[in-house]
Parts: sequence; structure tokens; C-alpha cells
Amino acid sequence: MRKKVIAGNWKMNKNLGESLSLIKDIKLAMLNISGKVDVIVCPPFTSLETGANLLKESPVKLGAQNMHFEDSGAFTGEISASMLKSVGCEYVILGHSERRTIFNENDEMINKKLKKALSSALKPIFCVGETLEEREANRTEKVIEKQIIEGLAGIPESEMKNIIIAYEPVWAIGTGKTATPAQAEEVHVFIRNLVKRLYSPSVSDNIIIQYGGSVKPDNSKELLNMPNIDGALVGGACLKADSFVEIIKSAC
Ligand code: 13P
Repeated sequence: MRKKVIAGNWKMNKNLGESLSLIKDIKLAMLNISGKVDVIVCPPFTSLETGANLLKESPVKLGAQNMHFEDSGAFTGEISASMLKSVGCEYVILGHSERRTIFNENDEMINKKLKKALSSALKPIFCVGETLEEREANRTEKVIEKQIIEGLAGIPESEMKNIIIAYEPVWAIGTGKTATPAQAEEVHVFIRNLVKRLYSPSVSDNIIIQYGGSVKPDNSKELLNMPNIDGALVGGACLKADSFVEIIKSAC
């Protein structure tokens, strides 16, 4: 039985003071929530260390939103896996569609990042998803298949327990347009079958596949009720403790 995992991707929001207050509010609300769901917050880099300190005694886990695949060197503006580990991160979001489209990340780079994260004992939240154009051209499965095959290339079965896959249809991100539970479930089943083909039935049965894209308190329950939707990667609605906690509760 897979446990639900709710992660909040703060994107480029919240300065240090604002982060402190949001993390405190989430931590407080979590005192009343049973251990049936795993919760991850992914604030910006500048709030990670403070976040880690605040979350020391809490079940809420910490993730970053990106990292470079090299260990160190002349990569102005970049952050390495060991830097993330050193401030207390357990997770890292990789391959987010905003990284793919705005910052030109391709499957090969994302594959390198996934491998570096895993070898550094960081757990990747590996994002995949199609654009509206691709969906309308009936290319959703082809696009997701390529992202997953190339993203996971060379990653051994033994590492798969440390990876979360997040299906985020690009057309549903920040648009208020959510995939219907049936639309999301269909792609989640496709992903789970693909993982079975690439690895094994047990990897496929155990891997967490989150849905992301305009998840809100008023649609989270029906999405999370689908048999193959194991959690949510939440953007806008995770920036307020109330709405994030409502989504967490709907997973319980
Ligand atoms: P929204 O929930 O704001 O649509 O963002 C989803 C997302 O991109 C999470 O990574």
C-alpha cells in the first residue's frame, strides 16, 4: 500500500521572513494530522537552511527546487547536490516544466541531475508532462514516454525506491485548469505500466506518482482518491498554510 505524498513547490516565492512564518504555520497544523501522509516543503534556496532548522523535530520534510549535475566549479549561480545535503535537504525537484521550458533543460541534463542527486543521497521528485499542443495532437503518451525513458536512462532498479515521479501536465500548471481525475489517472496508469516495462512489477507497484497542476483544496480529494494518484505536487495553493493543510488533510 503506497503512502500519499504531498509536496509544496514554492517556486520563486517567499523571502526569508515570509518562509519562516509559512513553515511555522504548516508545522503547527501538522500536529493535528496523523502520520498517514508524507509532507515535503520545497522553499527557495535562500530559505532552506532556516527551514531545515525549523523542521528538525517535525515530520515535514525539506526539498529544494533544482540543482546542477556537476559537483563544483565555474557555474555561476548554480547549486550542487552536496550544498543541498549540507543544509539538510532530503528531496530535490528535477525536470520541472518551468526548468525545461524557461531554462532550456533537456532530458539528457535531467538524467545527469537525477543520477547526481541519487549518488548524493538526495531523493528526486522527477517531473514529466505534456504541453497543450502535444495533448491536442494525441502525443501525450509519446512525450511522457520519452521524458521517462531518457530521464531514467542508466538508473538501476535498486535506486528506484528513492525516486518520486510527478506528472504535471504543462497546460494545468498555474492556469486553474486541472486535469480531470480520469485524465490524470489515465496518464498515471500509463506511467506505472511504463515503469513496470522498464524495471519490474514491484518497482511499478511501489513507486509514488504524484499529480501536479492547479491542485487546490476543492479538487484535491477527488484527484487523490484515484487508485494510481499517490500524492500531489502543489504550486500556488502551497503558498498559504490554510490551503496547503487542507490538501494534506484531503490525502489522509
Ligand atoms: P500550480 O499548483 O500553481 O498549478 O503549480 C503546479 C506546479 O508546477 C508544482 O510543481
